[in-house]
Amino acid sequence: MSIVLGIESSCDETGIAIVRNGVEVIANEVASQIDIHREFGGVVPEIASRQHTTIISQLTEKVLAEAGIRIKDIDGIAATQGPGLMGALLVGLCFGKALAYAWKKPFVPVHHIEGHLFSVFLGEARPEFPLLALVVSGGHTQLIHWEAPHQYTILGATRDDAVGESFDKVARLLNLPYPGGPSIQRAAEGGNPEAFDFPRAMMGRNTLDFSYSGLKTAVLYALQAGDLCVADVAASFQHAAVDALVRKTQQALDQTGLSRLALAGGVAANRLLRDRLMAECNATVYLPPFKYCIDNGAMIAAAACSRLDLGLTGDLSTVANPNLPFTSLA
Ligand code: KG4
Ligand code: ZN
Repeated sequence: MSIVLGIESSCDETGIAIVRNGVEVIANEVASQIDIHREFGGVVPEIASRQHTTIISQLTEKVLAEAGIRIKDIDGIAATQGPGLMGALLVGLCFGKALAYAWKKPFVPVHHIEGHLFSVFLGEARPEFPLLALVVSGGHTQLIHWEAPHQYTILGATRDDAVGESFDKVARLLNLPYPGGPSIQRAAEGGNPEAFDFPRAMMGRNTLDFSYSGLKTAVLYALQAGDLCVADVAASFQHAAVDALVRKTQQALDQTGLSRLALAGGVAANRLLRDRLMAECNATVYLPPFKYCIDNGAMIAAAACSRLDLGLTGDLSTVANPNLPFTSLA
């Protein structure tokens, strides 16, 4: 039972939150940099770090004021250790370690993917273990056998682009604004998802891995061939991207015999994906609330509450790691 202040700064969102017992968000603030990076069509790492530096103190003060909580009641400080952009990670991690040192609290480093996974506990229905998790973000596409709170076996992952990355790249091909996921979802409304038969890679093979670079290339070739209706291309792309996720997820459920499914990561905000997993997968589906799908501090605090309760803390020698591997019980 613990109250944790969580910090997320691995990419282009500065997220600060205070969470009680891993399930109750007392205060949560996310400062998005989308408007700053939009003119470049994607995240500019150096600008991202500077922006985190500019905002992180005042955002933390805002969260503390909103929470109406005394510092002495906070049990631990958590921050994303990796993976992510090195400069961006450093800002949040160093800030978190400084708070932990100044306030004499345990410091809990958290893997970004573990944070996304724990966002499912911020919803109304909370899953029990074991479960299958589908993590879909701008950097990851993974099927994970989630055996216990910090015990994971990766069953499948993308061999090239992550699914969120493919949304972002295809949006750019269609001249839709960054970030691509929400833009494609909007553009697809009213489009015909059957207008183009884009490929679903790795289907019918004896693997739970994904591949998304061929789908992006197929969209590129279709666009080069003629003047196309953007809504139809967006809808057909989204249909193919989601179809591959739903089919592989069902394959993983069949293989493992698991009956609970958790969805997490930025692409978990996708309506079609949420609806289709719930309608078509043979499992009870646990979804994070929309606002905890994209990067935020609450998911980091939630994962850290569990770590703190189990004594899995780090210390002030923890270093940021842009390529931090995802392992059990680190
Ligand atoms: O988890 P996240 O905020 O950052 C990473 O850890 O990467 O995920 C960001 C990704 C981006 O690729 C963005 O385009 C995608 O999530 N995304 C979506 C939607 N909202 C965000 N993809 C599809 N549909 C959405 N509604
Ligand atoms: Zn993320």
